[in-house]
Amino acid sequence: LGAVGAAGATGVVLGAAGGAAGYAAAGDGPAGGTALSAVGSASAPFRGAHQAGIVQPLQARGHLIAFDLTPGTGRKEAIALLRRWSAVAEALMAGKPAGDGDTGVALDAGPCALTVTFGFGASFFDRTGLVDRRPVQLEPLPAFSADRLDPRRSHGDLWVQIGADDALVAFHALRAIQREAGAGARPRWQMNGFNRSPGATAHPMTARNLMGQIDGTGNPKPAEPDFDRRIFVAPGGAQPWMTGGSYAVVRRIRMLLDDWEKLPLAKQEQVIGRRKSDGAPLTGGGETTELDLDRTGPDGRLVVPGNAHARITAPEQNGGAAMLRRPFSYHDGIDPDGTPDAGLLFIAWQADPLKGFVPVQRKLDRGDALSPFLRHEASGLFAVPGGPGDGEYVGQRLLE
Ligand code: HEM
Repeated sequence: LGAVGAAGATGVVLGAAGGAAGYAAAGDGPAGGTALSAVGSASAPFRGAHQAGIVQPLQARGHLIAFDLTPGTGRKEAIALLRRWSAVAEALMAGKPAGDGDTGVALDAGPCALTVTFGFGASFFDRTGLVDRRPVQLEPLPAFSADRLDPRRSHGDLWVQIGADDALVAFHALRAIQREAGAGARPRWQMNGFNRSPGATAHPMTARNLMGQIDGTGNPKPAEPDFDRRIFVAPGGAQPWMTGGSYAVVRRIRMLLDDWEKLPLAKQEQVIGRRKSDGAPLTGGGETTELDLDRTGPDGRLVVPGNAHARITAPEQNGGAAMLRRPFSYHDGIDPDGTPDAGLLFIAWQADPLKGFVPVQRKLDRGDALSPFLRHEASGLFAVPGGPGDGEYVGQRLLE
């Protein structure tokens, strides 16, 4: 259930026309009246081998929120917090109210493909006396030369990713999570994102980003034999509590859209190495055709330029490094100088960041053709444990 592969051949895609592909339908409306539309009734499972919000199709709305534990909050209080958060997430993902004191913001809506995903930052283990259970994969990411990171919008003890196909459902979940944090955890930063709505395109297709590119084509697909090994932590690792989990690299990447939009289409396509209209490689075929990285044109030059983003990031150029990119776009208004504060809330999922994000970003940082149009403004790295089993709360295998 809920696998990206069920939604289309092209990786993480938006919901199919007229419905939210890759999710279950929750049935009739909460009051037993008129059936919800396909968008409203789609739901993702709270329990299972993996937390929801990784392989499910992109949702139309997203909120990312990081928390720091407050002074005096230790392991015992963290257990109580994760219990409360798990109960709320399970109810909301099933389209039920968040218990007593529900704000009512989503009362008449179905689950709308809501996912609530929880992760732990490196500092969480110091605060809770669990340093011996901190995975080496949470070692800080290396500094990259192009980083312009704001520490106040980076990192955090705890991280929650909320996605839903309805803005009110997503906001409702965000407020419920914030309320249940109580006195034990304080928000450190929060970001809002979006993708296209299910049903907006005539055919299910890979998402576009704010530069207009089809983005997500090269993603590993759940049907591929090495998908689980690349994205999820296998049993038998140094930290058994992370079995079935994944590591999320979160980067707020501003797009310098004024510069980008001035670039003629042919140049924009050379920056990526793919056509803008349909995402097909410049060497021909359709979106899912392999790039022919060796092909030269009549002028003897490479058709996919040497610094094209799709060449630099291709797994075969990076010792097989692969990650599942599952982003939200963001737009936070206009800066005083008139430039849009817009870009990508880049979220990359992998079993080991040192075999996914890090080697690829190292190469991009040496200067691919896309880098001059981007600015990395915030960063986080979180250990996202596997999904809870029956009767468990998220993170129980770490905390008990
Ligand atoms: C591919 C855009 C940042 C890793 C692509 C593609 C586009 C794109 C249009 C080609 C279609 C596709 O396969 O998805 C962007 C934009 C970025 C960005 C707009 C920033 C705002 C990054 C970063 C990384 C990354 C920071 C990792 C460090 C990849 C990978 C592929 C890819 C792994 C697929 C390559 C393949 O499978 O052959 N990106 N990208 N991208 N990008 Fe990016």
